[in-house]
Amino acid sequence: MSSQQPSAIPLTSPSREKPDWAGEDLLSRIVNRLIKTKPIYALMKQQARQVLIKTAEKNGIPWRDNTQALLNSGVKDRLKDITNPTVTYPDYYNVPFHAYDAGNLCWEAACEAQSATYSMALRVWKNEPLTADEAQARLRSSFHQVLIQQGITDAQDILDVGCSVGISTQAIHEFYRTQPDRQSKHPLQPVPRTIGLDLSPYMLAIAAQQDSQHLEWAHGRAEATGFAAERFDLVTLQFVLHELPRSATLEIFREMHRILKPGAHVAIVDNNPKSTVIQNLPPVLFTLMKSTEPWTDDYYTFDVEAALLEAGFEAISTVESDPRHRTITARKVPTNLH
Ligand SMILES: C[S@@+](CC[C@H](N)C(=O)[O-])C[C@H]1O[C@@H](n2cnc3c(N)ncnc32)[C@H](O)[C@@H]1O
Repeated sequence: MSSQQPSAIPLTSPSREKPDWAGEDLLSRIVNRLIKTKPIYALMKQQARQVLIKTAEKNGIPWRDNTQALLNSGVKDRLKDITNPTVTYPDYYNVPFHAYDAGNLCWEAACEAQSATYSMALRVWKNEPLTADEAQARLRSSFHQVLIQQGITDAQDILDVGCSVGISTQAIHEFYRTQPDRQSKHPLQPVPRTIGLDLSPYMLAIAAQQDSQHLEWAHGRAEATGFAAERFDLVTLQFVLHELPRSATLEIFREMHRILKPGAHVAIVDNNPKSTVIQNLPPVLFTLMKSTEPWTDDYYTFDVEAALLEAGFEAISTVESDPRHRTITARKVPTNLH
């Protein structure tokens, strides 16, 4: 396994492998005990929501107006068509998440996802005077820049796994649509074929409603997508892994390996356990985070690179792509090396 850092993005020397508030450390166990105390959890959940909404609105994201506009937009009529009735939901997914009792499987979560995604980007550069749009563009661009640095400059068949309401899918599609390398290798195909896959049909209904580029939206489980073997040039997992237990992540890596062409790449961006910003989050924030994201301990103590290797990938590279996130890329062995 290789772990390279392109010189353009210096890696700040991390003091620890993961935050003390995750895993088996005493601090982590105290926080977990607190969260398991039901009345305290209920209070924290509500507080987390209020803090999130108020902070977003203070920063120019009209959270409640956005939600109301979407709820009134007729998006609910799309649910039937976008739902794949054969999809089954794993137990880890059927749990309260982000302070929604029904997790990702409800309109409230779906209608608030865009505001939450924009708020997340603003938090990355919270000391800089960026608008929500600028922060979002910078978040996506910092991921795309790593793809360029790793030489992943041509992708025609793209799958964005855990696409949620499609913000990551639109961004990766636009990035490759305009890549000169792709344009020269596929002169007859003016745009890539990009698919967003998600387990929540509510999220996908919003993605389809807001889609101006006519992408494809697929309701399915990343562990068993049903796509043909060796179909894709690139699979992305953007901010998905921290929402998964490690057993699911490993299964998903195996499935990604199956559906990628030989020599093609998987690219992952997510929270960086080594980030000093994340390690030094104030107690109230990490407690709120752990109380609304049930697989936090699993994610922060998981060796993602080792799991990629186990799933059959090679040329694994990890780069600190912004102050809070890391981008991990890995390649399926090219055919001629078999
Ligand atoms: C934080 S959101 C991803 C956000 C989006 N990719 C972006 O960058 O803006 C995580 C998404 O992963 C989806 N998800 C979780 N487990 C999944 C699975 N096993 N298969 C497919 N999607 C899954 C959730 O429904 C949710 O929409």
